[in-house]
Order: sequence, then structure tokens, then C-alpha cells
Amino acid sequence: MKIAVLFGGRSGEHEVSRNSAASIIANLGDAYTVTEVLIGRDGQWHVDQVPVSFGAALDVLAAQDVVFPALHGPYGEDGTVQAVLEWLNVPYVGNGVLASAAGMDKAVTKTLLAADGLRVAGGVTLRAGAHLEPNNQERLNLPVFVKPARAGSSLGVSRVTEWWQLPKALALARMFDDKVLVEPAVIGREVDVAVLEHPDGRVEAGPPLEITVTGAGFFDYDAKYAGGARFQIPADLPPATTAILRDRAIRAFHALGCRGLIRVDFFLPEVDGEPVVNEVNTFPGFTSASQYPQIWQRAGISYPELLDILIAGAVK
Ligand code: DAL
Ligand code: MG
Repeated sequence: MKIAVLFGGRSGEHEVSRNSAASIIANLGDAYTVTEVLIGRDGQWHVDQVPVSFGAALDVLAAQDVVFPALHGPYGEDGTVQAVLEWLNVPYVGNGVLASAAGMDKAVTKTLLAADGLRVAGGVTLRAGAHLEPNNQERLNLPVFVKPARAGSSLGVSRVTEWWQLPKALALARMFDDKVLVEPAVIGREVDVAVLEHPDGRVEAGPPLEITVTGAGFFDYDAKYAGGARFQIPADLPPATTAILRDRAIRAFHALGCRGLIRVDFFLPEVDGEPVVNEVNTFPGFTSASQYPQIWQRAGISYPELLDILIAGAVK
């Protein structure tokens, strides 16, 4: 089977995508003939390391049996590349245009999940140029997290413990997106749940993974990629909580109209233990050390088998 792995991209998660793709390529079995399609940070396309025009790259993608978009962040995980693949009429792994676009935007995600009855983080969304109104500041208890609506890997995210830190946090977030979320920090445990759609349409949630940040601070870019966190799979939780988390993750998958996969990141607040969806990832980190492949490995699905399932779901 001819497969193109599409990676890199113009987002701040370019390097993460390269690492995800390297693991994917290393774990694709002998049944696949792989073409590497890299999008540079500058948007330049490359096929098997040779710079090519956008048109030439599209011809290569269109000639595949399947495309595996391994892109994270805007211009890749947000529906833009999925729309190109729809135009080319080539099967591709994972989420379609709408789920990718909705899942990329944390404010839209919260709206859609809340409309489906899921509990999401509170807070306010500040659209381009808007400031936090004094009444909102009074309503939001410190600490708060300030996040760009459309970014990943915690890029542009800050924890604000004193209000004087807010302008700097907003400026940082706005380097990634004009639309920014200010959310009260949830004091509690952080648990990720992976959802996988099998080629027969069965949608399964894996064992919850608990994240423990080993240093000071939160699960930021360094904690994610410089070894600053530990994962425990399965998380040590009462069976009833595990069942609720799995059920909510599958509901989130359907609420966003997902296909193939999603990773749903929850908080379990200390106060009531009732899961809060923090965010979703329509193409979660995919290095062999990343949460999503680790969770499935723990559930008995090896990395190569996971790829086979996702690809079979795309070409069916
Ligand atoms: N956005 C990164 C890749 C993740 O969620 O794993
Ligand atoms: Mg996350």
C-alpha cells in the first residue's frame, strides 16, 4: 500500500510533528511503501527531502492509497490540510475538516462539548483586542491559565498567580492567536483518555493515563518534551471514575464528529472529583513515548497495530 506521511508544518509544533512522524515511519510495517512529505516552517513542501512546488506535492499526495497527516497545531491539525486532502479525493487517516477545525479551537471545543452536556473548564474567551473586564476579573479566582485558543503543546500558555502578570500573559498568548482564553486553574489530578475508532466502527476508550509533573509548574512545553512528567497507565482511580472518564471521552469524540482518534484531556478537581474536559487533541502527540501510543500499548495494541487500525479505518 502506498502511503504518504505528512509532517512538519508552519505551526509552533513543527518539531513535535517531525518527532511524531519519525515514530510513525519507523513503526509502519513492510506492507507499506512510504513517501515522506514534509512542510517546512516557511511553508515550503518537500517530497522525500527534495523541495517541490505545492502543485507537485499535491500530485504526489493524490497518487497515494492513503495519506497519514501527522501534523500538530494550526495549518495541519486544524482542518486546512484535511480540506486539501478532501479536494484531492485521497483517503486520509484521522479526523475530517469539521472535527479538526473545532478541536483546534479551545473555545469552540468547549461550546460544542458543553452543548452535549459535558463539563468543561470555566472562564472567559477574549476575542481580538478585547480586555478582561473588571467584573470578570472579580469573578475569576486566581490562579488562572491564559491560553491561545488555537495552539498546542502548551505554546503561549501561562499560569497567572497575581493580576499584575495578566498583560504579559495575554501578550504571550496573542503571539499565537488573537483569540485567548482565561480559565480558572483546576486544582486536582490531570488524566488523559485516548479514543480509537476501529475499522468496523466500534469506538473504544483506552485506560486513563495520569500525568504527574515532576518539577515546579504545570505540564508545559518543557514538561511535555524535556522529560518533566511521568505517566501512569492505568491511572490509579476507582473503577467508577475510570468508567465515567471513558464514557465522557467517547461522548466528546461523537460531540465533535470525530473519526479515527482523539485524545481527551481531563482534570479531576480535588473539590468534587467530577471530570472536567480541559481540551481535546484531534491529532495527539505520536512519538513512541507520547501518551496516545503508550495508552494503546498498555491496552494490548502495539504501535504498528495501532497504525494498521487507523489506516484500515481511513481506506475502508
Ligand atoms: N498537541 C500535542 C502534540 C499533544 O497534545 O500531544
Ligand atoms: Mg493537551
